[in-house]
Parts: sequence; C-alpha cells; structure tokens
Amino acid sequence: MKAVVLVGGFGTRMRPLTLSTPKQMLPVVDRSMLEHVVGGLARHGVDEVVLSLGYREDVFRAAYPDALCAGVRLRYAVEPEPLDTAGAIRFAALAAGIDETFIVVNGDVFTDLDVGVLWRRHHQVGAEATIALTSVDDPSDYGVVATDEGGRVLGFVEKPPREEAPTNWINAGTYVLEPSVLDRVDDGRRVSIERETFPRMVADGSLWAVPSDAYWADAGTPATYLQVQLDLIDGLRGPPVAGVSAGAAVSDDAVVDHSIVMDGASVEAGATVRHSAVLPGATVSAGALVEASVIGPRATVGANARVTGMSMIGDDTVVEDGSVVTASKIPEVV
Ligand code: GDD
Ligand code: MG
Repeated sequence: MKAVVLVGGFGTRMRPLTLSTPKQMLPVVDRSMLEHVVGGLARHGVDEVVLSLGYREDVFRAAYPDALCAGVRLRYAVEPEPLDTAGAIRFAALAAGIDETFIVVNGDVFTDLDVGVLWRRHHQVGAEATIALTSVDDPSDYGVVATDEGGRVLGFVEKPPREEAPTNWINAGTYVLEPSVLDRVDDGRRVSIERETFPRMVADGSLWAVPSDAYWADAGTPATYLQVQLDLIDGLRGPPVAGVSAGAAVSDDAVVDHSIVMDGASVEAGATVRHSAVLPGATVSAGALVEASVIGPRATVGANARVTGMSMIGDDTVVEDGSVVTASKIPEVV
C-alpha cells in the first residue's frame, strides 16, 4: 500500500514553534511527529510514503537524508506553491506515478486506526473514496460527516458552527482513494478536498466512510500537541513511554510531574514542571514553575518565573527571571 502524507501546511496554530520547524517535524516525546505517523502506517502495511511538501521542505530532507523514515521509503513531492489539500494530493500522486488505489493521511494525526480495515471496506462497497471517521465532543474544528446506515456519505461539511454540525462523527484525516479522484481536481490552483472535492463526491454518491473507535487525535494545536504526548506517557496507546529523556538533566530538588522533558533539556533545583512538555535543550531555571505549557527548543524559563495555562514559549526565547506568563504565546504571534 502506498500513502501520500500531507505535511505542507504552515502550522499557523502552532506558532511560534512552527516559525522554524514545520509542524510534523516537531518532537513528540522521543521522535518527530512524522515518525510517529509513518510508523503507524508501516504497522498497518504501508510500504511506501510520498511526502507532500511545501513549507520548509528543507527541514524534512535534512532529517531524512537517506529518504527512510520509521523503516519506510520516502519520496518527496515539493509543491511550487501551496495547492491546499486536494491540489497537494493530486500533485504528489502524479509526481510519484500513483495509478492504483492509495492512502492519504493528514500528517498531524495520531491514531491506532487500522487502514487495512478501511482499505477492505473501500473495495467491498466499490467506493471512489472512503474516509475514516472518529467521534469527538465538539466537531466544529473538523470536517463533519453524515452517513446512511451502510456508510455511504450523505453530507460533508468542513468546520461548521457547532450548532449546525449534523453529527459528532468527523473526518479522521485518513482516506483510501481511487486514482479517478485526481481527475476531479483542477490543475494549478488551490483545491480543498474537504470543501470542494468531497462535497461533490457526496452529490455523486461515490464517497463512503467507516467509523472507528480507535485512539485518535489531531496534534495540530498547542493543547492537542501536548495531549498526544501525555497520552503516550500515560500508556493510552500501549505500554507507557518514558517522559523524561535519558539525555535530560533533572535536579534531585526539582519536581517533574506528568510531563515530558526531552533530550538536552534541564530542570534546575526547586523548579516544578507539571502536565507540560519541555523541548530539547530548554532550561527551566531554579524555582520556576511550568504548568500545562510547552517550552520550545533551547528556550529558558528564568529563575522563579511562572509559565502556566497552555502557554507556548518559542525556540531560543528567554522568559525573564520572576516574570509571569499565563495562557500566552511568547514571542507573540499574529
Ligand atoms: N502539501 C500541502 N499543501 N499540505 C497541506 C496544505 C497544502 O497547501 N495545506 C494543509 N496541508 C497539510 C497540513 O500540513 C496537515 O498535515 C494536513 O494537510 C491537514 O491540514 P490541517 O491544517 O492540519 O487541517 P485541520 O486539522 O484544520 O483539518 C483537517 O484535519 C481534520 C482531522 O485532523 C481536515 O481534513 C478536517 O476535515 C479533519 O477533520
Ligand atoms: Mg490538523
């Protein structure tokens, strides 16, 4: 099975971290987001991945110079300009010469979903495209998908107002597509699969969906980026993963509770880190508090400073000694 993995977005909701690093190259506990995603596909039988690249494609190439990621061979398809999801899929599939049924995934989705189940159902019903569905409490940030009892899609609406969402079942960002879907996408302009292509396929009755209750999260916001990491150390997806890297320096007089402290990071005496992620090379200085927040690569939280309430500190940024940061992104982002 071949898969196109979409990783070309700007990751705007994850700024400031994504000003230097594309979202899917951010670390998630011990590996890049991309390695988690590709590893998951490999476990379910995908043996070739076409990376659909745009923003900061250089960072991906530098990280995987031999074009191997989680044991899977990578091909790189770099868009000359952002083509949006359907445009990107078309561009990547044509660049890789895909002419058979293939898989597409959003590169920020963490899931234990079995694409083999989706693949088999797709062929069973003779679908042109088949979408995996997951259910969430608030569907308004996602593509909302209504189906009939057999799984034929009756409606696809991207990010509707909450009160207008017809159901809590949403597009889980994993598709099986026939190559004919590519013919539905205009060349050379931005086309959204969620806003254009899928709604048109609904009208033709050729779009199907398969619900799943497997673990699923979109790691594309600060809160969910943190949550997918806490879920890994909490053992929600198999044996718990260690949160504190062997290459981190945590003082005996520091408290690290329910948190991730990555390679080369340090937590000094009297500091407390709770429900947070401290990225590689960052420093939480003596007496500081970090709670429910993300500290970026090589950033410094000064002595006795407080960073709380889902704050996000950018790469190499210094939070001055004694200062208080609550529910903020530093540096500020627009
Ligand atoms: N190559 C390329 N070019 N990739 C892109 C582009 C583009 O122009 N635009 C976005 N992407 C990539 C992003 O990098 C990401 O991996 C994926 O496409 C989806 O974009 P997001 O920005 O993460 O979308 P979303 O989370 O708001 O919504 C999507 O995912 C939800 C599930 O996680 C939609 O597909 C929703 O319908 C879905 O429910
Ligand atoms: Mg997303």
